[in-house]
Amino acid sequence: MNSDSFLKERCFIDGAWVANAGETIKVTNPASGEVLGAAPKFGRAETRRAIDAAYEAFPDWRARSAEERGGFCMKIHDALMDHQAALGELLTREMGKPLAEAKGEVAYAAAFFKWFAEEVRRVYGDVIPSPWADKRIIVTKEPVGVVGSITPWNFPTAMIARKAAAALAAGCPIICKPASQTPFSALAYGVIAEMVDLPKGLLNVITGSASEIAGEFCENPKLRKITFTGSTPVGKGLASNALKYMKRISMELGGNAPFIVFDDADLDRAVDGAIASKYRNSGQTCVCANRVYVQSGVYDAFAEKLTAKARDLKVGDGLENGVEQGPLIDAAAVAKVEEHIADATAKGARVLTGGKPHALGGTFFEPTVLRDVNADMLIASDETFGPVAPLFKFDTEEEVIALANDTEFGLASYFYTNDLGRAWRVMEALEYGMVAVNEGILSTPVAPFGGVKESGQGREGSRYGLEDYLNVKFGLIGGLR
Ligand code: SIN
Repeated sequence: MNSDSFLKERCFIDGAWVANAGETIKVTNPASGEVLGAAPKFGRAETRRAIDAAYEAFPDWRARSAEERGGFCMKIHDALMDHQAALGELLTREMGKPLAEAKGEVAYAAAFFKWFAEEVRRVYGDVIPSPWADKRIIVTKEPVGVVGSITPWNFPTAMIARKAAAALAAGCPIICKPASQTPFSALAYGVIAEMVDLPKGLLNVITGSASEIAGEFCENPKLRKITFTGSTPVGKGLASNALKYMKRISMELGGNAPFIVFDDADLDRAVDGAIASKYRNSGQTCVCANRVYVQSGVYDAFAEKLTAKARDLKVGDGLENGVEQGPLIDAAAVAKVEEHIADATAKGARVLTGGKPHALGGTFFEPTVLRDVNADMLIASDETFGPVAPLFKFDTEEEVIALANDTEFGLASYFYTNDLGRAWRVMEALEYGMVAVNEGILSTPVAPFGGVKESGQGREGSRYGLEDYLNVKFGLIGGLR
């Protein structure tokens, strides 16, 4: 099968492909401007239909053994891996990331299905020592029920996987609403569901109006949980609406990741980590290094090495061999990057490489390094979501911890040191849900991904990610003597 075999211009509801006669969402390849197709613009009525189907499917699914549910997740894993090349190509065509990264994302997505297929067999309860001789107390875990998921364009395959895999393994049917820029990688899950004979109603994919679909998720009593990955402002609005109806929520929101390089760090390792963290997906991840703090003793050397590597990154259409940085998702993304650079340079920052749209045109942007950046610049407080590494200088550990924590966000953070004492101290002092020491990439299905402060609530991946789809039930059995 090639990437076109996975490109569906209909939604997947209750195990069937549903077309619409009305409005559609046009999808274009950000590298070439080629129109790939159009997805339905559905609203409340179709969302209700998907929720009804999921609700119908729930009793049978939750009653199946963990092994059986996990078995389906394993089949989804295998199907994703069998079609990794085609799905990767589809992802690159609609989102722009280099093919190697796109195929890596498909493998990352598949790994969530494998992880939860295995982990669901270890959903243990408790027996609590009873204060009464004639009564026993037990605690069991039950699936929360029908889940509504809303996912972004930057990881259109993997962000669905870490929600859908946990939901399905736990016993919950799911309705997935992808971003309008990248509906096809999401709709491809319908093809995968058909391939593995997943019972109908368990995995539904609906494209369309975010406000109508999210509104129905919040207000429909048959839906019990909303999981969202996206920006903090949108997440806050969604969470407050969902909590009006007491829905369970998981919110994976914005970040403003500090990337700290101490004088005692292995500098080459830190440069490689910064390249990986900053330029992965052209800087369009919520865990990308957003502020690079470098201690004064190594500032110039680090700036020079980073600049040399950033300058060498090959920019182009993600489908071309050897390309390391694709286009940005759209013109608004380019405008934000330009705004951050203009603000920083107007306030004294210097461009070491890049700094402007790429000669390739469209939404391609040059990998950029800025030096002499300080806390008064917009880039210090706002997530750039683009390929710009701003270098801040610091002198002491206390100073950089205060700077790193001076943000409402608390998702990912990174630092480089060869001092074991400092590694522990700084890891404990950083107010972040995730801290990587001497590594620039930390994502894996086996560890809990998520933030503190305004970066969200809940965790994805790991055993904690499964807990987010389970309710705790207390059972009391009396009259035993
Ligand atoms: C994200 O940017 O939302 C996710 C990145 C990751 O899983 O590494």
